Amino acid sequence: MHFTHRIPEDNMIIDFHSNKLEQIDHPCMVVLALSDGTVINGAPAITELLRPHVENGEFGEHSGHHLYFFNPEGIKAERLMIINLGKKTTKSNDIRKATAKAWSKLLQKNRLEVLLSLDGFGGEQQQRAAVEGFLLGEYRFTLLKSEKDKLDPRLQRLSIHASSDMEGRVNQWKNIVEGVCKARDLCQMPANILTPTRFSELAAEWGTHHGFDTRVLDEDAINKEGMNAMYSVGQGSAQPSQLIIMDYQPERPSGKTIALVGKAVTFDSGGLSLKPAGSMAEMKGDMGGGAAVVGTMTVLRAVACPHRVVGIVPAVENMPSSSATRPSDVVTTLSGLTVEINNTDAEGRLILADALSYAGRFKPDFVVDYATLTGACLVALGPEVFGVMGNHQPLVDAIIEAGNELHEVFWQLPLVEDYNTLLDSDVADISNISSSQWGGTITAGLFLQKFATDYQWAHCDIAASIFDKSNDWQPSGGIGAGVRMTVAMLDKLQ
Ligand code: BES
Ligand code: MN
Ligand code: ZN
Repeated sequence: MHFTHRIPEDNMIIDFHSNKLEQIDHPCMVVLALSDGTVINGAPAITELLRPHVENGEFGEHSGHHLYFFNPEGIKAERLMIINLGKKTTKSNDIRKATAKAWSKLLQKNRLEVLLSLDGFGGEQQQRAAVEGFLLGEYRFTLLKSEKDKLDPRLQRLSIHASSDMEGRVNQWKNIVEGVCKARDLCQMPANILTPTRFSELAAEWGTHHGFDTRVLDEDAINKEGMNAMYSVGQGSAQPSQLIIMDYQPERPSGKTIALVGKAVTFDSGGLSLKPAGSMAEMKGDMGGGAAVVGTMTVLRAVACPHRVVGIVPAVENMPSSSATRPSDVVTTLSGLTVEINNTDAEGRLILADALSYAGRFKPDFVVDYATLTGACLVALGPEVFGVMGNHQPLVDAIIEAGNELHEVFWQLPLVEDYNTLLDSDVADISNISSSQWGGTITAGLFLQKFATDYQWAHCDIAASIFDKSNDWQPSGGIGAGVRMTVAMLDKLQ
């Protein structure tokens, strides 16, 4: 089964136009306007066309309303869709939502070609958001649908108008969205298909296409290296664990090395500390951290990232069986610390512990890990906001800033030193669960901190990404969280 969110013969075209917008011959132009009639990315003729509809109230007050014209006067395009942005907006995410909405309306009309002007926006963030709304919004996970002729059609052509040269930037944005869509595909795949082995094969396949090396430690090697925490999580599963190591070497190196570590539990049943049936099915998405890392790796060459980036993805399946870890078992981690596993459902921190120690071998300047780590993070921040913690404030700041620019919102939680005693164990150095029922995201972060010792580090708890509801710009479940933020964050690290 080939992983790609588009069937190959159905590839989208992006073309570029710099002549006058009114003069472009095109099946369908999309324009954004405020509810007071201010057109953002249009031409004077469109403002004229819109005015009476604003005056008689037909354009409405609210964002998402739209008007649709055939053979509109004063412009050559055959159709014109005007999307209402609401009263006033400077927020790029409103623009992203608006163009995603435009795509869903166009799909209903079976219009698969779009002309979008990038003139008139308040800067590059807004331009990017306008393009992303279409590209993120038209994603569908169709791999497992057998009746291909019954599928919704996809966006066939995105025509970009701009008076300045936007070709390089638009193509980069498209490449980044393709990385997001790879991450989405991974998250959507059920665990009987996306096993740790399949995950590692895909990483290797994408590595050859997108310019990074992939090496895999199999279960034996994981054991021999002394990564017993990681080994213990996979030992109950018939699926062998895999430590996936991806290495991107820049053409013109900055001299910095950044390691990205992603939790990839292809299915988290909880192990012997079994989850209740109701909350188990969504745990096919417990590899979202690993998906963020692999998705990011696939775009580094295209955006000419100047840093060496090492992606480390511990991929395991957490299952109960007679060979599974028992609550109370003690393992020795790669770092030498011993861990009492009091709850086999706190497995993410175990695989990350060894992966974080392993990351130290690359002498990284910065390490960022990504994990659907704690339900508590959802309790604390809700379904739209991710948690971030770390031992180096500028790195945490870079994550928050990059996320805010692209509307992947991260909120910092404190690594409260006094809570360390909550991880005390009677028999081992530490326990893998807190003795308190409160502050579970922070105590998970404190657990990881004990292994992120030799470098500047930040931890992203993206548990919320599993529960996102589908909307115009993202599918439910696997939203491909973290890829856009990370590419932008790498740009900020000096
Ligand atoms: N993968 C889960 C965390 C999770 C839960 C992500 C819900 C997304 C939605 C993780 O492995 C887990 O089970 N965490 C436990 C930790 C507890 C046993 C200390 C949790 O959050 O309940
Ligand atoms: Mn778990
Ligand atoms: Zn988990």
